[in-house]
Amino acid sequence: MILYFSATGNTEYIAGKIAEYIGDDTLNLLERIKAGDFSEIHSDRPFVICSPIHVCEMPIFFADYIKRVKLTGNPDVYFVFTSGGYAGVASSIARRIVRSKGMNYMGRAEFTMPRNYPVSRHYPLLGEEECRRRVEESQKRIPEIAGCIKDGKWLQARHVTFFEKIITYPFTPLWAKFKHTAKPFYATDKCIGCGKCERLCPVNSITMVDNRPRWADKCAHCMSCIGNCPVGAIGYGDVVEPGERYRFEKNH
Ligand SMILES: Cc1cc2nc3c(=O)[nH]c(=O)nc-3n(C[C@H](O)[C@H](O)[C@H](O)COP(=O)(O)O)c2cc1C
Repeated sequence: MILYFSATGNTEYIAGKIAEYIGDDTLNLLERIKAGDFSEIHSDRPFVICSPIHVCEMPIFFADYIKRVKLTGNPDVYFVFTSGGYAGVASSIARRIVRSKGMNYMGRAEFTMPRNYPVSRHYPLLGEEECRRRVEESQKRIPEIAGCIKDGKWLQARHVTFFEKIITYPFTPLWAKFKHTAKPFYATDKCIGCGKCERLCPVNSITMVDNRPRWADKCAHCMSCIGNCPVGAIGYGDVVEPGERYRFEKNH
């Protein structure tokens, strides 16, 4: 069973490709995460958990969900990360979570996909050409990675150094606490009040008030609201103009 969260479509795409290759089912965890539903998920085949990378780790809310959800059946767990190029220490956190559940950590794969984080001034979106190239390169690696999963082999990836761990462990929660603010989000008059942003927000930060989104303070900065707005009506302070966003294109 392939479990995933994806804010802007990269991880969903990779999860889907792996599922296709190994002939297994996917389960989008969004609704469960939103509802705080940690009830049992059963799979007779290995679990493959797919996640984007947020600030060198799995998104905090996602890691927390995986920690708490009850997984039964096959004890083997693989991880697949999609990032803009650096997956940081996500794998060591994944290993710890899996072991705390009494399950077998089977390694992880990392896919470099298009960046989706326009809100970060240091992390501009990439051009169309580079996005296409990254998706094509990732696609080429699917048979190798999915083949390992299908054969029950360990997924080998880059070694995470001790230095990376001591920098990242304290840094990421602090960064998330102080930088992941929703205050600058706004919707322009283009907003059609469809409520998609509210439905897709994994941490329930958005409420529709008078047919317009209103953001609470807590936010995962996942970019789901901006990325999936059907009319490009969402902006972020003076950093992101409405319409400037990333969403995985199915026609890559
Ligand atoms: C809040 C946030 C933080 C991110 N941090 C990193 C990072 O540390 N390293 C990296 O390579 N990519 C980073 N990214 C980029 C995403 O991991 C990448 O674009 C991912 O494929 C998005 O997946 P999705 O479309 O399934 O949500 C970040 C994106 C967001 C929104």
